[in-house]
Formats: sequence, C-alpha cells, structure tokens
Amino acid sequence: MDRQKDLRLILQSKTPIVVIETRDESRVIDMFKNNSFSNLGEEYLPLFRWTITDGLQRLDIDLEPQLHNSQPDDVLKHIRAVSKSGIYVLLDFHPYLEDPVNVRLLKDICIRFNETARHIVLISHQLKLPQELESFSAKFDIALPTDEERQSIVKRVAAEWSNQNPGSKIDIDPKAYQLLIKNLAGLTARDTEKLARNAIFHDGAITKSDLPAVMQAKYDLLNRGGILHFEYDTVQFADVGGLENLKRWLQQRKVAFGQQQSVTQLDTPKGILLIGIQGCGKSLAAKATAGILGTPILRLDFAALYNKYHGETERNLRDSLKTADIMAPCVLWIDEIEKGIAGRGSDTGTSQRVLGTFLTWMAEKKNALFVVATANDISSLPPELVRKGRFDEIFFVDLPSGTIRRTILKIHLELRDQDSNIMNLDQVAIATRGFSGAEIEQVVVSALYAAHAHGNPLSTKDLLAEAARTKPLSVVMDEKVGALRQWASGRTVSAD
Ligand SMILES: Nc1ncnc2c1ncn2[C@@H]1O[C@H](COP(=O)(O)OP(=O)(O)OP(=O)(O)O)[C@@H](O)[C@H]1O
Ligand SMILES: [Mg+2]
Repeated sequence: MDRQKDLRLILQSKTPIVVIETRDESRVIDMFKNNSFSNLGEEYLPLFRWTITDGLQRLDIDLEPQLHNSQPDDVLKHIRAVSKSGIYVLLDFHPYLEDPVNVRLLKDICIRFNETARHIVLISHQLKLPQELESFSAKFDIALPTDEERQSIVKRVAAEWSNQNPGSKIDIDPKAYQLLIKNLAGLTARDTEKLARNAIFHDGAITKSDLPAVMQAKYDLLNRGGILHFEYDTVQFADVGGLENLKRWLQQRKVAFGQQQSVTQLDTPKGILLIGIQGCGKSLAAKATAGILGTPILRLDFAALYNKYHGETERNLRDSLKTADIMAPCVLWIDEIEKGIAGRGSDTGTSQRVLGTFLTWMAEKKNALFVVATANDISSLPPELVRKGRFDEIFFVDLPSGTIRRTILKIHLELRDQDSNIMNLDQVAIATRGFSGAEIEQVVVSALYAAHAHGNPLSTKDLLAEAARTKPLSVVMDEKVGALRQWASGRTVSAD
C-alpha cells in the first residue's frame, strides 16, 4: 500500500492542487475515505467530493449532498470563502478549467494555501492543467493493481461465486489461473474485477478456455481510441507458401515469447520489417507471425492516427503504444507503415515527430512485444526507418519461385476443398511465372467459377486457362519491380 503513503506525502508537501488522471475514480475515492488524511496537519481535515450532478458532499461523515454548490464557479467560490482547511475532491472538473474565472478562483485558493490549507484534488480520466496553475500542482499516479492485488481480486470473486453456489466446487486449473492473473495486468481494479467475474461466473471455473475472452475484453477496454485493432483470425504459417527463411528466423526467436522467461541471456527481439512486391504475402506473413510466436496480434492503424483526432497525432500514437505494451506478449502489426509516416503534403512536421516517437519507443522497448511492419513503396520510406539496428531484420518478399508457386497453388486449392493431387500443379506453376501469391489465388478462384459455370469439377485445364488470361502485375510494372529488387539487394535479406 505504498501508493497511499505517497499520496499522504504529496498532501503533506503543501501542494495545493493534486491532479490524478485515472479511470478508476472509485478506487481513488476509497483511498481518501479509508485513510486518515484528516489528521495530516494541525487541523482536522474534512473530506468533500464534488460532481456537477450532485454538487458538494461531505464524505468523512455521512451528510447529504449540497446541490446549491453544483455549479463549478459556485463551488470554487464556496471553497475560497471557507476559513477552514479541508480536502476537496473534484470529479471531472476538466471541462471547466477552460473558463478563466474558474482558473482565477483556483489560483486564489492556491495562493492562500498557507493561511488555509484547502487541498484541491482533481480527478479526471485525462486532465491538462492551465499553465497558471502548474506551479501549484503535483501529479499523483495511481498505480494499477500489482500481481498480488490482482490475485486477491480474483480470489475474492471466486469466493463470492462459492458463496452464491453452496455445494458446488469451483474448478480452477492452476495454469490457467496463473495466466489469468498475468493477462489481467494493466487494467484498473474495477476492470480486473469485472473480467474476473465474467470468467468465473459463467461456468464456475477458471480454465484455459476463459483466456481468449479475457484478452478480447481487456483489449476492448484499453482500446478507446480505435486505432489498435485486435485481429481475431490469425493465420498459420502452413497457409503461407514460401518465406521459409523468415519462418526459420521466427522459430528461433519463439522462446522469447514463451511463458517462462528463463532464457535471460537472449535479447528480446524487437521486430522486423517486411518489404516487397505487392500481393506476395507480406500482410499474410505478418498475421502468421503471431501464429508462430503463439501470441495475440494487434494491428496499429497508422493512417487512422492522423484522421481520428486532428492535432493529437503523437499523443494518440503514444497512448496506443502504451496500450500495446500492456498487451505484451503480443505482436504489433503495422501494415503499410510508409503510409503513416511518409511526408503527408504540408504536414511533414507531424510525420517527422510521429516517426521520432515511434523510433524512440522501438529503441527503448524491452518487453515481449514484437513489431511486424510491412511496406511496399520504398520511395516513401524514410531512411531513418531502414537504418541498421532499428528492426532486427529487414526481409524482402519477392515474387514466388516455381516450387513456391506450386505450394501456393496447393494451399489455395486445399483451402477450397479441392483435391490438388489430381491436378498437374507443375504445369500450372510454370504457366504462372511472374505471378504474385495474390494472383495465383485469383487464378484458383476464377477457375473454380469457370468450372462451376460449365458444370464440371475443377481441372488443370481450367487453371491453365485462367493463368493464360491473367497479365500479372510484375509484367505491367516490370520497371518498378526491378527497382524494388535492386533497392532490396544489400539492404535486406530474402524471406524465401
Ligand atoms: N506466399 C503466399 N502463400 C499463400 N497465399 C498467398 C501468398 N502470398 C499471397 N497470398 C494470397 O494473396 C492474398 C494477398 O496477399 P497479402 O495481402 O498478404 O499480400 P501483400 O504482400 O500484403 O500485398 P500488398 O502489398 O498489396 O499489401 C493473401 O491473403 C493470400 O490469400
Ligand atoms: Mg498487405
């Protein structure tokens, strides 16, 4: 309970305003209620709470709220006028700090703090103090529940279930229990309890099957900006043709993301950048990475960072990265990273700062959070991003070779319940030279339609006919592909 001691110290330090940014308002109120901050000074300190809806209410003794003090300037005038010390906890006062009158009233209270110690505690989910008040204030960080606190929350919820279900025994899988405690990290006490309750109350058990729902719910709780997306359907690497080198590289690093972090002499991998030809499986491989590492995957929508809240791009990025950190171990997938950080018209300043924020975070990151970024337009990739040491490795995803085209064909036929053994895949693989994986998939899809139209099962002939009809992008964009390959040689390693 060190946090309570810290809070006490802040109050004792004669700082008139304490700012607490939290979504766990009731936990903070409880901290004030359950502690005898009332005898901090020479004088007894009564405790008050204010909200716009209820006005001012005394909390240390049970008194009815005083509705007449519900207006922000009224309550501040009231506080300024009282000649006794006290602690005034103002909930969600942040919108009213825009009013110069309120700012001045607060300043008056602060200036006279030495005469009358009226402590103002501002609790909001987010709060920016006007500059005039900064020097009178201190920020108090209410820490999220520790491992032990989470355990006691889960135990309490479990006990509650047992009480309500006399005769039934709660079924706790010890391994799932440990994972549950671990996965609940990063949430407020209230949310921890809520998720624990969901997990336990629906079946009176804590089992592995509870975990995906907990992760999902946790992610939903944390992702308030809508910039991070939880990817439900991760892909297995078995569904990706080729990219053997990348696969091997990932396999070797899988240990760092396991449950037991016993391999301390190994650095936690930071991430990779996949660069390559359109449609050759970069996005697919990014998703499959999570499959190999055995973690959930979050997609960070870099482009949405700019659109969502104008002028708050960096803050959004920082918040999203913080959320992702909390979700570790996980894969953070940034698709088409160049779109988010390439100079955006006149707004190159912002994208520079966004890139800076991202690179700093990457460099300082120590936890099991693996970044997979993809890009296909090298001309708009900032050089800072591809400099050695940023990513652990930059992989180049080229057009598939003959054998790989054969594998991709087989994968896509089987995904659509076709027996690939009765087809001449070698022949189709030859006929699809220069095709990307996406184009090969398209051949399979179109051939299936054609076969369906003439009422026969799919045959090699259908596949060959579709292949002949397709003009692959690599032919249309011959020069571009050439330039990309040239850029890649020396800078990247082959994913295949
Ligand atoms: N190597 C592959 N193995 C299996 N399927 C593939 C492969 N490459 C591409 N595909 C198929 O093509 C689809 C599109 O590929 P994907 O989106 O991963 O390519 P990309 O490299 O990310 O392309 P873009 O540069 O256009 O984003 C995939 O969903 C998959 O069905
Ligand atoms: Mg893609």
